[in-house]
Amino acid sequence: MNELKYKTIDLASKNDLDKFEVIKENSKYRPKFHITPPHGLLNDPNGFCYFNNEYHLFYQWYPFDTFHGMKHWMHLTSSDLFHWQEHGAKITPTEKYESHGAYSGAAIVEGEQAYLFYTGNIKLESGRDANQCLALLSADNRVVKYSGNPVIQSVPNGYTGHVRDPKVLKRGEHYFMLLGAQREKDLQGCIIVYQSNDMLHWDFKGELSINVEGKFLDAYMFECPDLLTVDGHDVLIFSPQGVEPCSFRFHNKFNVIYCLGHIDFDTLTFDVTHWDELDRGFDFYAPQSLANTPDKQTIIAWAGTDEVLPSMEHGWIHCLTLPRSLSVKSNRLCQFPEQLLKTANNHQQLEFLIKQHESIELNNLSFYLDVHTNNNNDDFSISLQNSNGKEITLSIQGKNILLSRKGYEHHDSDWNFGSERQLETDYDINNIKIISDESILEIYINDGMDVFTCLFFPDESNHQVNISSGKNQPLDVEFKYLTI
Ligand code: FRU
Repeated sequence: MNELKYKTIDLASKNDLDKFEVIKENSKYRPKFHITPPHGLLNDPNGFCYFNNEYHLFYQWYPFDTFHGMKHWMHLTSSDLFHWQEHGAKITPTEKYESHGAYSGAAIVEGEQAYLFYTGNIKLESGRDANQCLALLSADNRVVKYSGNPVIQSVPNGYTGHVRDPKVLKRGEHYFMLLGAQREKDLQGCIIVYQSNDMLHWDFKGELSINVEGKFLDAYMFECPDLLTVDGHDVLIFSPQGVEPCSFRFHNKFNVIYCLGHIDFDTLTFDVTHWDELDRGFDFYAPQSLANTPDKQTIIAWAGTDEVLPSMEHGWIHCLTLPRSLSVKSNRLCQFPEQLLKTANNHQQLEFLIKQHESIELNNLSFYLDVHTNNNNDDFSISLQNSNGKEITLSIQGKNILLSRKGYEHHDSDWNFGSERQLETDYDINNIKIISDESILEIYINDGMDVFTCLFFPDESNHQVNISSGKNQPLDVEFKYLTI
């Protein structure tokens, strides 16, 4: 097997360490308040929890290069979800049971410890195998692998080696572990469930039946299952792979589904009252909820699955989305990063009323924009444009939304998945909030009824925001730069 690809951080040479320092110094494209790797590749958020009066977050990290190699768990802590302190790799896959990476997983807080469950990924000549493993995070921020690992060895009968991404939760007296899996008989994705009384010994219970018709059930693999309760609704989240585009949905390489409804662990069924894609933009995958939240339910996700992005030239690739607070309104899941707006410093706040058209010249790309209309089914557009005419445009026409980043094509291969995303809402659109952070836009429709996440890699030229009202109806605008 490729030596660099499966190298662990403890084997970094002096040369590697020097290279890492150079990468850390360069700030080109680096978001200010979205998490990026110091060097190398970041993917899924892991082990996200509130523990010992702090927020803890880990992410999948390959430190040596910008491709998917040996995955470690990088550890960060924060007191407010926005100022993060980095602690380096806390799960390094040095054991046989995790020979090809410490893959994704989640935390559960019990007593004096946070239990971090993850998948020990094993690559074999003949395919792959998976072990479910445990590491314990204690109050002094040490992470120690459980000596009895793996807690689940290999995969249950009837499933391929693609079984991963444990999410453990407690219901009543029992602990349940949800895992993404692939059936052997039809090579389709599903969620399987184990049960335990002590989190160390696990019994296979079976497959979760998701009671709904949906094209996403044909996926070849479900990754990163999550289950939480928001405003009295059970919410099941997972990342299916291999779903064909259908009308305005499923246009990304991989997409994310949420289902609202009710879970029954006795019958292993999830009755769905509503489902949708969790994000309608280009770059959103493998979200994870905050375990043991002291406040609102919150999720954070990996912003994107593209394998080639311009930041690679600078030695790093990918970022996480903002942590988004969740609520259920009109039987749909809403997301908004409330905490950021409470925490961030605001500069040069502008508030004005637009009759037809207005432009704001930008001196940096980390800002917040809020556009409000009092007229139902209004038409308006917002664009971010540079002085060479490159543009990302959001157009609202009645209940139709079109987001185009055609002007910001960052690599040819991405455009297999198109440079436009569309949505027809079943509600009146009266508010757009945009958070821009150097190379990522998060666009919230009506306080997060729908969200579009969109990466873009701006050149050095000047940028402006243009806002136009199609029917000359007044638009209320608030604009401010954000720093933290
Ligand atoms: C999702 C995923 C997970 C896996 C991890 C490996 O992006 O493929 O299923 O555990 O990434 O890094």
